[in-house]
Amino acid sequence: MRVQTLLLLLAILEWRLTAGNHHGCSMPGSPCNISRDDRGLQQVVLNAAYSFNNQSNDAFLFKPSVIHRAQRQIVKGICYIVDLNISRTVCRKRDNSDLSRCEFQPAGRLRQTFRCHLEVWQIPWKHQSRIEEFLCKP
Ligand SMILES: *[C@@H]1O[C@H](CO)[C@@H](O)[C@H](O)[C@H]1NC(C)=O
Ligand SMILES: *[C@@H]1O[C@H](CO)[C@@H](O)[C@H](O)[C@H]1NC(C)=O
Ligand SMILES: *[C@@H]1O[C@H](CO)[C@@H](O)[C@H](O)[C@H]1NC(C)=O
Repeated sequence: MRVQTLLLLLAILEWRLTAGNHHGCSMPGSPCNISRDDRGLQQVVLNAAYSFNNQSNDAFLFKPSVIHRAQRQIVKGICYIVDLNISRTVCRKRDNSDLSRCEFQPAGRLRQTFRCHLEVWQIPWKHQSRIEEFLCKP
């Protein structure tokens, strides 16, 4: 199949990944906004990008481009709630590139962005981190 056809298919289908049970972070207590520079947040977002790339059949790697909302809730662990954009980079998947060095696609037919909602639950003292919810759409 030609790359363009694949891209079109990907754009039409809502991209969806739900890992584990669908608990999300719907626990009592209110989430607090956190800084975009928070290291825990950055790790969570990067792991989500790896997961996105692992699941997608796109020829290129995607990476986070914008973080719209970043919240953390502490209840029986740490829950990160993030709304973000994930955009196509110029790095081809098969090249095994270092994502941090990949530039975003310039304006043109290959430029594409998904808007995603991510919820990750971590239990640090058990070294557990689980993507509870990760929904992306074009
Ligand atoms: C990629 O996904 C497969 C199955 O979907 C999984 O077995 C594998 O561990 C994943 N790899 C990474 C790096 O997440
Ligand atoms: C939290 O962040 C969101 C989006 O970034 C913003 O709309 C909201 O006003 C912020 N809430 C507080 C309490 O700062
Ligand atoms: C985030 O992605 C959505 C969906 O593609 C797009 O409409 C929006 O403009 C993007 N936001 C930014 C700040 O790039």
